Amino acid sequence: MTDRALPPLAHLLGLDTLPADRIRALLDDAQALLPHARGGTALREVLHGRTVCTLFFEPSTRTRSSFHVAAKRLGADVLNFNVATSSTTKGETAADTMRNLEAMGVDAFVVRAAQDGAVAALAQQARPDTHFVNAGDGRSHHPTQGLLDMLTLRQAKGADFGKLTVLIVGDVRHSRVARSDLHALRALGAGEIRVCGPTTLLPGAAELEGCRVGADLDAMLDGVDAVMMLRLQRERMEEGLVPSLDGYFRDYGLDARRLALARPDAVVLHPGPMNRGVEIADEVADGPQSRVLQQVTNGVAVRMAVLRAVLGA
Ligand code: CP
Repeated sequence: MTDRALPPLAHLLGLDTLPADRIRALLDDAQALLPHARGGTALREVLHGRTVCTLFFEPSTRTRSSFHVAAKRLGADVLNFNVATSSTTKGETAADTMRNLEAMGVDAFVVRAAQDGAVAALAQQARPDTHFVNAGDGRSHHPTQGLLDMLTLRQAKGADFGKLTVLIVGDVRHSRVARSDLHALRALGAGEIRVCGPTTLLPGAAELEGCRVGADLDAMLDGVDAVMMLRLQRERMEEGLVPSLDGYFRDYGLDARRLALARPDAVVLHPGPMNRGVEIADEVADGPQSRVLQQVTNGVAVRMAVLRAVLGA
């Protein structure tokens, strides 16, 4: 089934409300769109005449750029709104900013915000026919990252997630990526989900229900099919949640010795930006088991699929 067989999505705010068949359909659609993600003009009519605005209140390299590329590949007009040079610096609210851009004919907003729930709140204040895609809000959701991670796993390991043991490592507590990955892995029926990190960086037990949780990374790597590394948010050191970067790498950094404890065909994912030498060694980040750049390419295809789904084309 391709996503086109399903009713359009009004918005994509999180993966927690998306049924498994919708997630699978978006992955199917993204896989089919992959040949077009790297270039070409074949799909320029799909969103011709539609306008997509990227509205990022936090920095981004991958998400913002890949939404831009995805929208252009589908023929949309793209407005990359620059928050730093906008009238938000004079105190204009995010809602007023959105309404003014909406009045210029924006059909879909791709929004990143620091506050949990901020993208959903903007969607509630918009016209009924304006669409929103959450590009990351607070610690809550990063749905397109979750989808591109699932596509990358599926390409490496096949569609039967029930056979997979997946390990998520690092600062799960503050990670919207980890939360979206957990929603997606559960929806797709992952065989075993493991979570490893210092107790100061793990969320409460309710969020990790059904996961095998541990602090000994060497032990947790045994028999793993995929390792999903997370960025250590350096501000956590200032909060005293991590004693030192060296100590973090010693206990939770993925190097070649550690990776050899996983299955020989295990793959390594990281959402970026990577802190090399803090959570991941160069030899792993750039090694044969790394799927980091494949994730980025998949991100364009996933975002093409999502824009097509929300804009109903
Ligand atoms: N993975 C991710 O969200 O990267 P950016 O912050 O660069 O968009």
